[in-house]
Amino acid sequence: MEEMVDKIIEQNGAKESALLAVLMDIQGEYNYLPRPALELVSKKLGVSMSRISYMATFFTAFSLEERGKHITTVCMGTACHVRGATRLVEELERVLEIKAGETTDDKQFTLETVNCVGACALGPLIITDGEFQGNMTSPKVSRLIKKLRKED
Ligand code: FES
Repeated sequence: MEEMVDKIIEQNGAKESALLAVLMDIQGEYNYLPRPALELVSKKLGVSMSRISYMATFFTAFSLEERGKHITTVCMGTACHVRGATRLVEELERVLEIKAGETTDDKQFTLETVNCVGACALGPLIITDGEFQGNMTSPKVSRLIKKLRKED
């Protein structure tokens, strides 16, 4: 992990002002902010752990919890909700055998929900690994998860 953190710091600059960019790159690499990586950042950039923790919790894009390789997010905004987003969450919970907010034991999938992401015309929608999938139905969701499992 130290090697990766060093590389990220080198790319962004070993200075306090690079903290946000460094955290974003660590999040991009691991899908969350591992505590040992944050301790290394604290030491190498000379920034306190309390400042890093503050930033990590302030920005919703960051996660301090270990997440799966594939992040599946269901939009639960009003437009998606009235078009059946709850059924999509239920189907994903059934297929993945986890509850929303959890990660599968094999660390392959994390299921999350979010409020409106501004693409209501596509609802109900899910976002898988950053890609918007609109007009989703329960069978489509199952097929998508099956496909991702097969690809791994
Ligand atoms: S409510 Fe889902 S994108 Fe707006």
